[in-house]
Amino acid sequence: MTQTIICGDCLEIMPSIPDKSIDLIYADPPFAIAKTFRDAKGEIIYDNPKTISGLLEMMAPRLVELRRVLKPTGSIYLHCDPTASHYLKLLMDAVFGVNNFRNEIIWCYSIGGKSNKNFGEKHDVIFWYSKSNKWIFNSEDINVRIPRKPDSHMKVITDEQGNIWQVKTDKQTGKIYKYPLDKTANDYWIDIEQLNREDSERLHYQTQKPERLLERIISASTNKDGVILDPFCGCGTTIAVAEKLNRKWIGIDISKNACEIARKRIGNNTITKGGHDDKRDIRNVGNGAGGFRALLP
Ligand SMILES: C[S@@+](CC[C@H](N)C(=O)[O-])C[C@H]1O[C@@H](n2cnc3c(N)ncnc32)[C@H](O)[C@@H]1O
Repeated sequence: MTQTIICGDCLEIMPSIPDKSIDLIYADPPFAIAKTFRDAKGEIIYDNPKTISGLLEMMAPRLVELRRVLKPTGSIYLHCDPTASHYLKLLMDAVFGVNNFRNEIIWCYSIGGKSNKNFGEKHDVIFWYSKSNKWIFNSEDINVRIPRKPDSHMKVITDEQGNIWQVKTDKQTGKIYKYPLDKTANDYWIDIEQLNREDSERLHYQTQKPERLLERIISASTNKDGVILDPFCGCGTTIAVAEKLNRKWIGIDISKNACEIARKRIGNNTITKGGHDDKRDIRNVGNGAGGFRALLP
């Protein structure tokens, strides 16, 4: 069932995923902006919900299904923008429980246009919820280097284990203080840039996210061989990173164009598809595929 890209509405596909079978969900749904995304040929990829209530109506039943498929130790990351994040947080609290709210991650970037009418809109919001009071968090795997102050008087040393420290000696007492230079990332991420137009990762899919963002999420919240579901997988950023990090994955997207780009990205040109309509176009990629063939008419 894993290593599979499925083209269709995730609400229709998810009933075929067993209860409590997924370690991590990364969901990056269309934001509540009345915007139509088009591909390079000008063809419609998908229409965003037109209103906030439209987005909430769309998300509510999908979040309930997502909760069902999560393992008790699983986590969900919901990627939103500030237009709708506060409404979506209420929905997340209702479905996953206030006690299971773990972090509101603010992802800051600088690329893109500037405005003279308001402050630059340069962050997204990512909510992390666990399914229960037990969850995976590999803090050692998501260390970030703390930027050193330009006028810092502290020395930098590397110990025998290879850990890097900033060290200072108290002039009065002679006591030596050591601070690690690498530490677990905070809940604001300023070290991962949005993709620029020329970026080698670019696949010309408008809402493509950088792989480094997914690397941090996947490394933090899954172990090797963990199973990851992306129900709005777009051009396949999550599944490409999952593959690199030796995780199992399932990607779903309603857009055929997105599924096709994602399939090419994974690098396997074998398409298995049966008689299908738009919503049941199943593409199996890589090993272990096949569970979703049962969905074919
Ligand atoms: C913001 S994009 C995801 C981008 C993705 N994270 C990436 O890096 O490429 C949202 C995606 O949701 C898909 N989508 C919209 N409604 C959907 C639905 N009901 N079921 C599955 N996918 C849907 C769109 O086709 C679009 O590719």
